[in-house]
Amino acid sequence: MNRYPPLLIILHWVSALLIFTTFLLGVFALAERPNTQEKIVPLAVHMALGAVLLVLTVLRLAIRLATRKPSRRRASPARASSRPLIVTMAAPVQWLLYVFTLLMSLTGIGLTLQAGLLTPAGLILPADFYAFPLRVVHGTLSTVLFVLVVLHLLTWVYFQFIRGENALAWMWFQQKHNQKTD
Ligand code: HEM
Repeated sequence: MNRYPPLLIILHWVSALLIFTTFLLGVFALAERPNTQEKIVPLAVHMALGAVLLVLTVLRLAIRLATRKPSRRRASPARASSRPLIVTMAAPVQWLLYVFTLLMSLTGIGLTLQAGLLTPAGLILPADFYAFPLRVVHGTLSTVLFVLVVLHLLTWVYFQFIRGENALAWMWFQQKHNQKTD
């Protein structure tokens, strides 16, 4: 049986792609750029992806909480104490990823409201986003989210390459093994 239901697996990879794209757009197409007309399209895409991420993350959290936790072998006390930090941190990091993705979307929406970006005439850019307190919060949280993604990837690297387990398969669809053999 899969560790996760298929819908959660799809949502995981779609969210990963969206977080990656939204983050890169923020860093390379928004943060250091002047607030000119050229910024409107990347900002609108960034905002739309961030809003989709809010919906997807709420959905993922709801499914994750509603479905049974994936079964894990209990480590004996001796093994648990010798467990590497990256393994101990794996589960808390997963939950923090949900929390910080949600916070990114919420502070992004808050900043949009604070800066009066959305008007009936379309997106109107302020002279400087840093005039609004949520700009610093949104930027700082993005650094935390980046660190969490790196820790999450390191956990995968540990299981995949150091422990030699096929960790990628935990987040993929399993083939059916019930083919008839004569
Ligand atoms: C998970 C979702 C999101 C991620 C990962 C994300 C990421 C980022 C990053 C990395 C930056 C640049 C920060 C910096 O380097 O200081 C940024 C800026 C920004 N984001 Fe987001 N964001 C998300 C959601 C949103 C949403 C939903 C909105 C609005 C609806 C939004 C609006 C903005 C705005 C207005 C800026 C400032 C642009 C500027 O300074 O020119 N973000 N975001």
